[in-house]
Parts: sequence; structure tokens; C-alpha cells
Amino acid sequence: MVRESESGLPVEPVYGPSALAGWNPAEQLGEPGAYPFTRGVRPTMYAGRLWTMRQYAGFGTAAESNARYRRLIAHGTTGLSVAFDLPTQMGHDSDARPAHGEVGRVGVAIDSLDDMRVLFDGIPLDRVSTSMTINAPAAVLLLLYELVAEEQGVDAGLLTGTVQNDVLKEYIARGTYIYPPGPSLRLTADVFRYCRARMPRWNTISVSGYHMAEAGASPVQEIAFTLADGIAYVRTALAAGMDVDDFAPRLSFFFVARTTLLEEVAKFRAARRIWARVMRNEFGARDPRSMMLRFHTQTAGVQLTAQQPEVNLVRVAVQALAAVLGGTQSLHTNAYDEAIALPTDRSARLALRTQQVLAHETDVTATVDPFAGSWAVERMTDDVEAAVLGLMRRIEELGGAVAAIEAGFQKGEIERNAYRIARETEAGERVVVGVNRFRADAEEPYEPLRPDPAVEARQTERLARLRAARESRAVGSALTALRRAAEGDDNVLPPMRTALRARATVGEVCDALREVWGVYVPADVL
Ligand code: 3HC
Repeated sequence: MVRESESGLPVEPVYGPSALAGWNPAEQLGEPGAYPFTRGVRPTMYAGRLWTMRQYAGFGTAAESNARYRRLIAHGTTGLSVAFDLPTQMGHDSDARPAHGEVGRVGVAIDSLDDMRVLFDGIPLDRVSTSMTINAPAAVLLLLYELVAEEQGVDAGLLTGTVQNDVLKEYIARGTYIYPPGPSLRLTADVFRYCRARMPRWNTISVSGYHMAEAGASPVQEIAFTLADGIAYVRTALAAGMDVDDFAPRLSFFFVARTTLLEEVAKFRAARRIWARVMRNEFGARDPRSMMLRFHTQTAGVQLTAQQPEVNLVRVAVQALAAVLGGTQSLHTNAYDEAIALPTDRSARLALRTQQVLAHETDVTATVDPFAGSWAVERMTDDVEAAVLGLMRRIEELGGAVAAIEAGFQKGEIERNAYRIARETEAGERVVVGVNRFRADAEEPYEPLRPDPAVEARQTERLARLRAARESRAVGSALTALRRAAEGDDNVLPPMRTALRARATVGEVCDALREVWGVYVPADVL
């Protein structure tokens, strides 16, 4: 009986040589670390360097998050990943009306250079790679990071890390957008140009499929919509006059890893091959680094269950294995209790230990792309690739990713797939252990880590002291210069940097751009 994969593709009960009749390994695979990178972006992959163990973390004040980062580093994490609270992600100060009730809740509250300094206190920025999950105000937090590095005496050219900086997927699935698509893409290109000149080791964007997957996208939709967004960013940078090999090597991606391991491995391998061919054949990239799809993976938060939460340890281990067998460069493993509340120190450590077991107790790091040549996984890789290319063609027919977003196409496709998943789960056709089968008699009580409501008051006091102590005339003239740059074509990051160094706040900088560019209102809201 032929089953369907998560993407609705056929999965044969038995694969044999006929599954790969006419298949050309030289063309479809190539060598590890070589075009089309199907087998991985590095010749030696984890035999040369393990993936970065990069746990997404942040809550409360900068001081509380700094303490969590230090503990994660002490536990062996090899990369930082900053979670910002919603007010910061939306470019509002902690004392702004829209921030009320959200300060420090889903991430750390950052209002100013002073907060950013506290966040990285005691962490040498020339020796750590930091990812920041920040989109609409990505430029602001990038510059605050650079200013803190400057205070530490670290040259911007040495800084390694990533800003997510992917607003297109925010319009589709996550919602932390501010400005309309035009100015948002302009700001993205300004970040590309600024980093090319001042921070050449910085990854300027993390084009994300993860949140679309969490909203219900299938593996094929996740890759097709993400790569279509990536193409829109490439076209934006080319239209801004950049050469493809000047910015493409620093593009990066972010995907989910689901429990359906085989299809996920096929998904990652297909994505690398598609991107390599698009960059060389459509955009004329000549630098192999421009053709490499380097990505971060997070295990699937939406597959965690609140019921029998310890079962999530097994799910996360399988999902992490899928990411590693799929050739990820960086990995976040969810904590088993995340479906209930913020991870505790203990559950966060256990999440990291899951990666360390894979890295140091298994043999999956000994050889590159072990599924290569497998009748099943190569067939699945080709099937996923064909379906992704078909969906990418449909987006092109709609006028590209931005036009499709404005027509609500991606959102509609994801919602339909999310409904299918919900219906199958409700009907018991899709087993969720502990939820619709193998339920526990009585759920044991769980003591979650609850966010501290006093954070908002503390942040508000900090802001009042900052505003009283700073040179308000310098802030005012810097914000005026920023507005003027936003009205023209000049890169807005240099005047933004001056304003932030003068202690302009995140909210004030984003408000200055709101005054010039306005804010995005989705068509279905109008
Ligand atoms: N041989 C030789 N060199 C190697 C190697 C090998 N086998 N493997 C790696 N290296 C080198 C690389 O060349 C690189 O050097 P370079 O920067 O000079 O090129 C260095 O070692 C580091 O390797 P990577 O770049 O592969 O690893 P990083 O961890 O530094 O970067 C990334 C990975 C995917 C490119 C980067 O963009 C990244 O870290 N992304 C993380 C994104 C992230 O964490 N997002 C979190 C999102 S959470 C969220 O959205 C919110 C919630 O809702 C989910």
C-alpha cells in the first residue's frame, strides 16, 4: 500500500534499482562541497567541523538573558541565538503603549545601546557567532551589536553571526513586519551593502521556511516559498546595483526538521541542488560560495505536545537526526517542555545534550551524506525537487514572491495544508502519540517557568534614566538625518548608527522610519 509523504508525494513500500532508472549521479549529486552541493556544502562536512549548536534563547531583561547565554556557553553551546521580545521585534520601546504586557515575554527586551551592552557583558564578540532573530528592525539591532563590539575593541570585520532580516516571510506567516514591502526590501538591500563594506563575515539574512512550516506548510511548500523569497531578495540586491557574487555568499537559510526523517533529508538535499542551479543558471553567479545553500535548522515546535511532555525528547532527537543527516550548518533543538512554557535551565540543557549525543556518541558525523545513492532517498529527493520546482513556477507566473504575497497565495496554500493536518489529526488518521493515541490516564502537574511581570517596570525605569541622561539635541539631529536618508536613496544604516550611538532608542529609530515609509497593512485587513 503506497503511503503519502507530508508533501502528499507517494512513498513506495519498497524501492529498488528501477526507482533510479536513468538517474545520473554525476549530474544529480556531484561531490560533497561541490556544485550542485546535493551532498552538502563542505567536502568534509562534520568530519571537518561539527554543525554549530545554536540554542535560541532570551527572555526578560538583558541581564537575565546574559546569564542564560553564559550558562549555555558553559554547557557547551557553540553559537548564540538571541530571542527578542515582541516590542523589540516590532520596533517599539518597552514604555510604548503597544508594548504593554509583552515586555520581556517571548524574548529579551532591548531598547538601547545600554541594554545591548548588558546583553553581551562578558561575552567576547570576536570569539562568538551570534544569530539575532530580528526582521523589520534588523538593521537597528545589527548596528547596536556592532557598536557594542566597537566598545569591546573588536573590529567590525571580525564579527560573525546572522540577522534574520527576512520580512517577506513575516508578511506570510509570522507577522513581525513594520513597513510596506518596498521600503522593507530597500532596507534589506541597505543591510547587504553595509555588511559588504564593513562586516564581510556577517550573514546578512536568514531566509526562513521554519515559521511557514510551523503555520502548516508542507515540506515542498516550505522549500518552494522560502527559495522564492530568496530569489526576491537576490533580485532586489541586483536592482540596487550590487553584483551577485558581492552579496550572495552571505545569504543563509533557516528550515524546520520534522519527525518524518526520510522526507526531511530528501527536502534538504533537494533544496541545496535547486538553489545552486538557480544561482548559477538564472543569476550567473560565478563564485561557488554564491551557490551554496547554507542553513540553520530548528526542530519542529509545532510537533511538540503538552501531553506527556517527556515524549518530546524522542521527537526532538529524531528531528535533530534528520537535520544532521540532511547536512545542516547550525541547529537548535527544542526543549521538551516548550509546548507548555519557556524552557527551564534544566530542559534547555537537555535540549543541548541531545545534539551532543548525536555529535559525540553516534557515527553520523563520520561520513558525508550517508543516504547518497539510496534508492529510496534519492527517489524522494528527486520527487521533492520536482514538486518544489513546480510550485516555484506557479509563484513566478503570479509575478514573483512579493506579488504572490500581496495576492495572499502563499498564506492561502499554507492555511489549506494546515487545515488538512488538523482534520487528519482530529480523525485519528494522523497519529500524535499521547494526544489522539496512547494517552496517559491522568496528566501529571507541571511547574513551568513563568515570565516576570516586573520586567516591564524595570525596563520603563531604565528608559526614563537613559532619556534623562543623554544629549537630546544630538539625538534629535541624528534622527532628522535618518529621516532625510530614508526620504532619499542614501544607505540609511550610517545615520542610523550615529543615532543609536547617541542613545536614540530602538523605538525612536523605527518611528523615524515609520514617519517616512508608513506601515504595512495587509490586503485582508483593509
Ligand atoms: N570545513 C571547513 N570549514 C568549515 C567546515 C568544514 N567542514 N564547516 C564550516 N566551516 C567554516 C565555515 O566556512 C565558516 O567560516 P566562514 O564564516 O568564514 O565561511 C565557519 O566554519 C562557520 O561555519 P558555518 O558558517 O557553517 O556555521 P555558522 O553557525 O557560523 O553559520 C549559518 C551557519 C546557517 C550560515 C548562519 O547563517 C547561522 O548561524 N544561522 C543561524 C540562524 C538562527 O539561529 N536562527 C534562529 C531562528 S529562531 C526563530 O526564528 C524564532 C522562533 O520563532 C523559531
